[in-house]
Amino acid sequence: MYALFHDYQNIMKQLSINIHYTEYASTDELNEADRLLLLKAEEAVQSAYAPYSGFMVGAAVLLDNNSIVTGNNQENAAYPSGLCAERVALYAASAHYPDMPFKAIAITAKAKTFTIASPVSPCGACRQVMAEYENRAKTPLKIILRGETGSVIVFENVSQLLPFVFTSEQLNP
Ligand code: THU
Repeated sequence: MYALFHDYQNIMKQLSINIHYTEYASTDELNEADRLLLLKAEEAVQSAYAPYSGFMVGAAVLLDNNSIVTGNNQENAAYPSGLCAERVALYAASAHYPDMPFKAIAITAKAKTFTIASPVSPCGACRQVMAEYENRAKTPLKIILRGETGSVIVFENVSQLLPFVFTSEQLNP
C-alpha cells in the first residue's frame, strides 16, 4: 500500500497559474483613454435590450486606429437567441474594421432592480471571442471592468482571464 502511494506521488504534479490585474478605487484613477472607453460602455448600457433579465450590459472596443465601436446585450423571447454586449461589440468591430487590431474593451452594466457595486465579469463565451481577436491581431487586448459604482479592474490581456485557452494553433499545429 505504502509503495503504491509513493509511486503515485512521484508522477502527480500540482501546478498553479497566477493571474495579474490592477484595481483602481474609482474611475478618477484611470488614464484618459481608459476612462473615455468606460464612458462609452456606460452610454451603450442605456440602449441595451434586456427585457427578460433586466440586466443591461454595455461594451466599448478601442481599435488600433483609435475608433471606438460599442455594443450592448440583445435578448430574445427565445432565450438562447440573445447575445452578450461584449460579443455584439466585438463582432460589430470586426465586421466594420476587418484586420484592425483591438487594443481594449471596457465593460459595464446596470440592473433594473439593484445597484451593481462590483465589476461585471465577462462570461466564458465572450472571453473565448476576445481571445480569438487577440490571437488574430497578435496584440494584447486590455479588459476594463466596472459595475455601476465602485472600483475598476483592469487585465492587460485575455490570457489573464482565460488561461488554457483553445486557439486556432490547436486546430492546425
Ligand atoms: N450578459 C452580457 O451581456 N455580458 C456578460 O458578460 C454577462 C451577461 C447579458 C446576457 C443576458 O442578456 C444578461 O446579461 C443576463 O445574463
